[in-house]
Amino acid sequence: MMEEIRKDIDKIIVSTEDITKKVGEISQKLIADYKEKDVTIVAILNGSLVFLSDLIRQMPFSMRLDTIGADTYGSQTFPRAETRLLNSLKLDIQDRDVLIIDDIIDTGKTLKKVIEDVNRYKPRSLKTCVLLNRSRRRQVELEPDYCGFQIGDEFVVGYGLDFNNRYRNLPYIATLKAECYSKR
Ligand code: IMP
Ligand code: MG
Repeated sequence: MMEEIRKDIDKIIVSTEDITKKVGEISQKLIADYKEKDVTIVAILNGSLVFLSDLIRQMPFSMRLDTIGADTYGSQTFPRAETRLLNSLKLDIQDRDVLIIDDIIDTGKTLKKVIEDVNRYKPRSLKTCVLLNRSRRRQVELEPDYCGFQIGDEFVVGYGLDFNNRYRNLPYIATLKAECYSKR
């Protein structure tokens, strides 16, 4: 079965070109800050996958990569009351410089939960990097250290972000047509 997904798009919020440019800018900052630190990147799965892979390929220095799975949304467009972490770190990060990467910070609960988990292992430093920031919906006091774009209230998909585990493979950030939210 092949189902074309672009027909479900309502509006493109951030174009592929703008994402590419922004990823370049963020990676320049990360290069300046981390080139001699042998950083450990902790990516929050699954949403950060596409951003992560573009970003780290712009960073030509020694680093390690670990992942933490977070289950925030289930199959809804409203976040769960409580974010569940699906696993913890595999690498030893004690006295290491750690950078957490996620697709978007919304209420902030996911990032906060991951920060708490990572801090248990006593990193030397801990910073956060997200592509999208929806600061108006924040429920905890937390601002990312590196951030791509501020976005508004609408739920978005693409470039790693999903609705019902679909649309992650779109090469831009977009909103869906209203009727798509009732699809399975
Ligand atoms: P928070 O815990 O409310 O900050 O939500 C962050 C997590 O929810 C991210 O890791 C995303 O995976 C997911 N998320 C938040 N907003 C959106 C959205 O508009 N589209 C898709 N996923 C989202
Ligand atoms: Mg996520």
